[in-house]
Amino acid sequence: MCPPEHFAIEYVINPWMDTGTAVDAGLALRQWHFLHDTLAGLGHRVHVLSAQAGLPDMVYAANGAFSVDGTVYGARFRHPQRAPEALAHQGFYAAGGWTFAEGNHVNEGEGDFAYLPGAYGGLILAGHGFRTDPAAHAEAQEVLGRPVVSLKLVDSCFYHLDTALAALDDRHITYFPGAFSAASQRVLAQLFPDAVIADQADAEAFGLNLVSDGRHVVLNAEATGMGEKVRAAGYQPIHVDLSELKRGGGSVKCAVAELRPRP
Ligand code: ARG
Repeated sequence: MCPPEHFAIEYVINPWMDTGTAVDAGLALRQWHFLHDTLAGLGHRVHVLSAQAGLPDMVYAANGAFSVDGTVYGARFRHPQRAPEALAHQGFYAAGGWTFAEGNHVNEGEGDFAYLPGAYGGLILAGHGFRTDPAAHAEAQEVLGRPVVSLKLVDSCFYHLDTALAALDDRHITYFPGAFSAASQRVLAQLFPDAVIADQADAEAFGLNLVSDGRHVVLNAEATGMGEKVRAAGYQPIHVDLSELKRGGGSVKCAVAELRPRP
């Protein structure tokens, strides 16, 4: 995670951003600390990356890379405003002794990649349509050695895979079908017949932008309907208020890069 110390809406690169509304910097920081402490309180070890001036979106740490079993596929951001963030993430993994592969194609890390270790022997789901180049899906498959299923996003409000789909545990997912092309909806229904289906209201409340440890599902405070859906599916919803990060087009999942070391 990376604290929103320099968080602001300085440019518009998704439909949620509006340079006309000021963010409450103090509130953003307090909300971020609450999320951090919630994850730590659940027993998770949280590493913190130093925020850098001039990189207002760096709080969305999920976009910096994607790791599977100790190997990291590095991000290459679509927009020049965010490009330097990739280097900060690379430095973190290099210092930790991870195997690091630089992305040669545009990809926004866990924003557009999800990993299901228990599905089909280890499956990667990957989004394209707005940010990540489909060529990066093939590259990720070669780097990480797991099958990558490409899914096309069609609604600009849900421009990253992690705004429309989430892993609930090692092999179960939840998603909002309307964010995907008809063909990709068919692929998801075929691979995950038991998925928790979310609706437009759940997605607009950033209810899909969640972090789950397989038991606890941490999700945005506004996503009450989504909380009930995951509870009915057997998980414990934990709501956190991230109203300020939502102004930049993100929520819980965007703020967390999950680390998957070698087993
Ligand atoms: N303002 C950021 C952008 O548009 C938000 C990123 C949200 N991150 C995410 N993992 N969906 O790039």
